Amino acid sequence: MGARTLVILGASGDLTRRLLMPALFRLHKIGLTRDLRVVGYAIDDWSVDHFRTHIGASLREFSDDFDKLSAQRFIKTLDYVAGPLESDALAAIGKKLSPETLFYLALPPSLFGTAAQALGEAGLAQSPRGGWRRLVVEKPFGVDLASAEALHVRMHRHWDESQILRIDHFLGKEATQNLLVMRFANRLLEPVWNARHIAQVQITYAETLGVEHRAAYYDHAGALRDMLQNHLMQLFCLAAMEAPSSWDGEVLRDHKVEVLRAVRAIRGNVARHAARGQYREGRFGRRRVAGYRDEDGVRPDSRTETFAALRLEVDNWRWQGVPFLLRSGKRLAADTSEIAVQFRGVPGALPGALRAANPNWLVLRLKPKQQMDLELTAKRPGLELEGRTVVLTAPYRSEGDKVFTAYEQLLIDALAGQREHFLRFDEVEWAWRIVDPVLRAWRRGEPEAYAAGSDGPKSQGRLLDAGMQWRTLAA
Ligand code: BG6
Repeated sequence: MGARTLVILGASGDLTRRLLMPALFRLHKIGLTRDLRVVGYAIDDWSVDHFRTHIGASLREFSDDFDKLSAQRFIKTLDYVAGPLESDALAAIGKKLSPETLFYLALPPSLFGTAAQALGEAGLAQSPRGGWRRLVVEKPFGVDLASAEALHVRMHRHWDESQILRIDHFLGKEATQNLLVMRFANRLLEPVWNARHIAQVQITYAETLGVEHRAAYYDHAGALRDMLQNHLMQLFCLAAMEAPSSWDGEVLRDHKVEVLRAVRAIRGNVARHAARGQYREGRFGRRRVAGYRDEDGVRPDSRTETFAALRLEVDNWRWQGVPFLLRSGKRLAADTSEIAVQFRGVPGALPGALRAANPNWLVLRLKPKQQMDLELTAKRPGLELEGRTVVLTAPYRSEGDKVFTAYEQLLIDALAGQREHFLRFDEVEWAWRIVDPVLRAWRRGEPEAYAAGSDGPKSQGRLLDAGMQWRTLAA
């Protein structure tokens, strides 16, 4: 028996096939998890061989690092048990576990509570002497504050907070972690990282993809729950939090919670603080794509938003008066993701044409490129004293760098018990507190229609201050 075991609940599902197995395969291939046994568990009545063949085909499709021989070696380490999420059935996997065992809930969110409880009742949550049991929970954690609290209480009947690892895979992304390093390992930035020098911060995650095959989940979630409450809120935290006194996981998370708590509650005029849209049919070049309501599995009268934007205001000394603008949507004009910080214009008198010089932007790009761009004004060559924007670009990667995907990083962390890239419950809780009033207001009315391939609904403009614009969605 291997020294460590990973049990994936929901092993016949999409997350396992597309993300977990390619990550586990790569880690196995480069020798980081040779001691790990992987046991798949799911309701489908499959044999171990069937499971292995299924995963083999998935690796061929989704792994960037596929080669037949390594895939065969990896697949041989996989085991499979068929059964429901009930304690009697789960108890049967007890004998397959090692002293160090990680359970991964790769399940629909509505089953997280049931699975955690069933594992607990089967006696599998108890860490053995000298070993450990941990539980990885996917997002979204609840569908609002009340359900998140209820889920938390249910999980805690059998699992201790120190055993629960709530995933937000954006925290496993190299580019997200770079935001922390960039902010806190460069002396240059801290003195200007505040309301005195920064006018606004725009955090964008735009996709050209539509809902794809995920309508069963997405049509009940929508963009605010799918992207903003978790992923973009985390990027916001990292951009806005105070400098931690140490890089200890608890200290980092304390600081994130502190800034979430400083976000002014959205009351009254929700349209000034939140915008929503839903894509209709449209074009990407010559390709026509269907509208959201015509997608497979979407209710024909669905009012689910496929675009959401939030304006957050932070009531503390550092950020008083600076809007943080978060937006994300599907079927938008470009696949782009960035954290863009706009500095204020320079004070005082500039000669002639220089007066129109654009304020500087510092843009940390996550997608499609991973790089930092600092937009500065420099002299336009010629006889006049005119300025133009020049860009200092710092690519995040160099040739030959070893990079890891978010799931590779998070699986390694979970096995090692490193918790800083996972969410503590109070982070989840405070993020729900911020979006709950918007969710309540959105029970009425409809999202604004926007054409697929566009920049999203017009109503997002109401979130901006006079003279500000959303950045264009350029790839
Ligand atoms: C997921 C969302 O959490 O993140 C998806 O459910 C979204 O809707 C995805 O497409 C984006 O993540 P990534 O890693 O592809 O940038």
